[in-house]
Amino acid sequence: MYNDDMTPCQDLVEDSNTSKNTHFQTVLNQYMDRRSFIAKTGSGAMALAFAASVSGCSDDDNAEATPPTGTQPPTPEGTDKHAWSDLKQRPSKLSFKAVEKNTQNSFSVPEGYALKVLYAVGDPINPHNAIKIDSISQSGASYKFRSGDCHDGMSFFGMHPTNKNYAAKESTQGLLVLNHEYLAQDELHLPEAITKGIRSEDQVMREINAHGVSVIEISKDTSSQNVKVNLNSPFNRRITAQTEMEIHGPARGADLLKTRFSPDGTLTRGTFGNCGNGYTPWGTYLTAEENWSGYFARKANDTREIAKEDVALQRYGRGGTGARSSQYGWNTPVAELTGNTDLYDCWDISIKAANALQDYRNVMNTCGFIVEIDPFSVSARPVKRTALGRFAHEDCRCSNPIVGQPLAFYMGDDATGEYLYKFVTEAVWDPKDMNGGYTAGDKYMDKGTLYVAKFNDDGTGEWLELSFDKHGLNASNPNYAFSDQADVVVHARLAADARGATKMDRPEWVAVNPENGEVYVTLTNNSNRGRSYETDAANPRSYVDVKNGSASNSGNMNGHIIRFHENAEKTTATTFTWDIFLFGAEADAAANINLSGLDDLNDFSSPDGMWFDPRGVLWIQTDDGQYTDETNCMMLAALPGKVGDGSRAMAASTKSGGQETIIGAPLKNDRVRRFLTGPSGCEITGVTMTPDYKAIFVNVQHPEGTWPANQSSKYSLMGSAPRSATVVITRKDGGVIAGEALEEKATTA
Ligand code: FEO
Ligand code: CA
Ligand code: CA
Ligand code: CA
Repeated sequence: MYNDDMTPCQDLVEDSNTSKNTHFQTVLNQYMDRRSFIAKTGSGAMALAFAASVSGCSDDDNAEATPPTGTQPPTPEGTDKHAWSDLKQRPSKLSFKAVEKNTQNSFSVPEGYALKVLYAVGDPINPHNAIKIDSISQSGASYKFRSGDCHDGMSFFGMHPTNKNYAAKESTQGLLVLNHEYLAQDELHLPEAITKGIRSEDQVMREINAHGVSVIEISKDTSSQNVKVNLNSPFNRRITAQTEMEIHGPARGADLLKTRFSPDGTLTRGTFGNCGNGYTPWGTYLTAEENWSGYFARKANDTREIAKEDVALQRYGRGGTGARSSQYGWNTPVAELTGNTDLYDCWDISIKAANALQDYRNVMNTCGFIVEIDPFSVSARPVKRTALGRFAHEDCRCSNPIVGQPLAFYMGDDATGEYLYKFVTEAVWDPKDMNGGYTAGDKYMDKGTLYVAKFNDDGTGEWLELSFDKHGLNASNPNYAFSDQADVVVHARLAADARGATKMDRPEWVAVNPENGEVYVTLTNNSNRGRSYETDAANPRSYVDVKNGSASNSGNMNGHIIRFHENAEKTTATTFTWDIFLFGAEADAAANINLSGLDDLNDFSSPDGMWFDPRGVLWIQTDDGQYTDETNCMMLAALPGKVGDGSRAMAASTKSGGQETIIGAPLKNDRVRRFLTGPSGCEITGVTMTPDYKAIFVNVQHPEGTWPANQSSKYSLMGSAPRSATVVITRKDGGVIAGEALEEKATTA
């Protein structure tokens, strides 16, 4: 969603961290912010980047995934800690021709590359809906079988051509799984027809169905590299804001999650606000629930009998005594089409009945989790993994799996001044689980230890454990009396406050370097840094940027990317060392702002999406509202060094003399350069590749103007209106994306 604080829109970026950690923020500001594989291989090399399930799956589209039977996947040989990497394929430098900054209403890609729109809002996922569109055939109900809106996090899962299981090195067919984060209502309905107040049920159904996740089968031609969606695939599936989900982990069955829909607290409906993503070593997709609290209405003076519930609602964006309206009014329709008012009652968290089993006062406690989806299992319920905590989840990235060692999942909480978390599994990695689907998920993701990060100014950091009854996380905690581990994970923010975690400049995506396991985190921006949030070494900059000729607030206006190295390279480490890999900045900014020495070929602002492909090429995407007077949002490629390869520096800060920080070694533009820019008004987010590196998929959210001009309007009620979409980029000569340096080497060798 848009990052421009001045551009109010649908999404709510919370700023509700009033804990005394680092500083005391007295003003609650809520910004309306619209922008807002496992690979099993014959050789045993595994590519996390192309994680996919190898769960058994029949060709019958109603078949439940079955546990793996018969031939087991090859077991990776040895205990190579870098087994997921594909480092021999990494280019030594980036030699595609960098794309120039621009504000054009179109995509720009390097010379010799081609881009096409693959999957835009309203596009069908089956032949039945692939007919010329009219307003009836594009009913709200039909959106259960169409692309949702605001495409975001995305992963590719290669598929074996005959047994239809996961096949990590398969590039000619596979399942593309992607999030639909939220809505641009004017992309979804005719603007003049959008209902307000009491919403039309059909429009609300369309909006609910336009959220969630798509699973679509794609095929790629081995010579032309042309990519197509296979509308006849039995795997094509939409998961929406109404799909039934299992609750697993410590909060399963807890009183906190009991609702009229699930009086025993084991189920809920829907996933929404799906922003970043991840994938597991056993082959499943992870979707991150980010901005969810704004979807719920709450009546005025809806006081809870238990005082701590008010504390919790405050910390998660629905506190106070004033009435709160639902962002899209999903609580309002008269159920004249479905006759099922329960579908809409569940968007109101007010106390309406005698107890929590008869209303939806607790339903918000079923949101804000990492949700596991097995793309090869067409009918099993997705699973909310509560052990990983409840917050504005942005992204969830697994450590490089090492046989016999616990896995770690790294996660950002994207709201102003929120924290960075990791979950360490109790179980140790066993490659035999690669086929395991949700059963493996239960093994690894339901038991383990949740931590939150504290960054010290000296370049060290600590993981602070969030376990009930340890370090005061019990009834004695003064701000919020924790009663059990369910209470700790559901209120992870309050537990993290109590432990003294470091308030960060909005942690967005996380990426794990396949070479050395170092973890990179985008901190998109914080226009309050240096004012209500003091600078510190890990969030060091506060400065004024000029946009459209006017000075902005002081703050971290362009964001940065921090990275850290777990001590002794253990996922279980409780300490780490960190530095700042890159600072977003304009090329001509002062040296204490442009600390990474960016130039015109690689300057950027507000990093958000980010992913290491298995070669070790880092892809960085922007969701910016600050540099947009000079350039549209973009994607860059980078070849990073490692933590500690740079030096100390003084950053521009509101502190007198500046703020000391630790920066990575500056990279020249052959190690970080701009790969694409999107159309005006857009956010670029979501990136994945086929395992042969010959097709790269990128998502564009809420483009403006007339884009996409090259997309057929036959599926769109909106004609040629600009729409969010997945695009695919290939090289015209069929070569490897960003692989030119390898070819130069081969030619000269
Ligand atoms: Fe959905 Fe924080 O971006
Ligand atoms: Ca500027
Ligand atoms: Ca994002
Ligand atoms: Ca963002």
